[in-house]
Amino acid sequence: MKKNILIVPGDGIGQEVTAVGKKVLDKIAEKFGHEFVYDEALIGHVAIEATGEALPDESLQKMKNSDAVLFGAVGHPKYDNDPSAKVRPEQGLLKMRKELGLYANLRPIKLFDELLGASSIKPEILKGADILFFRELTGDIYFGEKGRKDNGDSAYDIATYSKFEVERIARKAFEAARTRRKKLCSVDKANVLETSRLWREVVQQVAKDYPDVEVEYQFVDATAMLLIKDPKRFDVVLTANLFGDILTDEASQIAGSMGMLASASIGDGTGVYEPIHGSAHDITGKGIANPMASVLSAALLLDISFGLKEESNAIINAVDAVLKAGFRTADIADASTPKEKILGTDAIGEEII
Ligand code: NAI
Ligand code: MG
Repeated sequence: MKKNILIVPGDGIGQEVTAVGKKVLDKIAEKFGHEFVYDEALIGHVAIEATGEALPDESLQKMKNSDAVLFGAVGHPKYDNDPSAKVRPEQGLLKMRKELGLYANLRPIKLFDELLGASSIKPEILKGADILFFRELTGDIYFGEKGRKDNGDSAYDIATYSKFEVERIARKAFEAARTRRKKLCSVDKANVLETSRLWREVVQQVAKDYPDVEVEYQFVDATAMLLIKDPKRFDVVLTANLFGDILTDEASQIAGSMGMLASASIGDGTGVYEPIHGSAHDITGKGIANPMASVLSAALLLDISFGLKEESNAIINAVDAVLKAGFRTADIADASTPKEKILGTDAIGEEII
């Protein structure tokens, strides 16, 4: 298979971890006989320094013309201390999502057995947990009309969803459920919110086309509780933008460390694959960042954008084997990890390769 992959490292440790993700893709190409052609593009602080814009048109065009994007992170402390800065790295991220029509954010929450001790949740509750979130990314209260009234004494944010927006992500989630345990939980607040009632109506309609998938409906408050009480009950979780934002941060704790979690943002065009973590300037340049979130993002890329399931699993199994062999980066090491088993970014990347 011949494919064009755009590498967009961005800022801070984004540079360090995507370099490892790319090397792993190279190894897959070699092992399975594919041809991956790479190009690079700028985003975030590095793009602002070079061009004055957080997402230059040239980068956007390259994204649109590639088969998939492996993205790092954006962000720089300079802007965190200056909220008045007009051009900011995050603008590049939001523009990318909007311009590429990335309406579905997929976050697999999978705990590798070897890291059971790294979470603050009891191992017996976590063992075997494997959840795939589908968070809607371009609608809801984040994008509705907002403002102030009563001379600024009241504020409002309006949530809107259209049937079209719900249906397109629901179909993606049902398709994914089919390839997994054939279970889907749709999360809403249909006892109170009209957007949630529409959400549930549409999901019920779409469900008719997937009779082989078992569907349950949960309210978001109950889901927040169940994720911690019994994460194993969930397989695919489908939810709106606001609920998904909150629930996926909660669920990230099921997997132990931010350095382990990958995500995919998909729409009708190019898919973007990225770690959930940011640019981590506190550890940038030290060579200690955990590259596994980027490596696992590359695995998602192969699976979702290219349909290369076997190749994707080869990466996940390699990460598992490296953990089983006792190798750790500093963020996932515990008191029992021997010093010589704690590796830096490149060294653990070599082990995975
Ligand atoms: P962060 O995710 O960059 O870091 C949080 C903490 O986790 C830090 O202590 C960091 O050292 C650690 N960490 C993160 N990834 C790690 C890895 N792979 N290996 C080992 N340790 C890791 O979040 P923070 O510090 O809140 O934000 C830093 C910058 O990143 C900010 O400018 C922020 O705006 C940006 N950001 C960008 C995101 C993106 O591009 N998608 C997402 C979140 C934050
Ligand atoms: Mg969030």
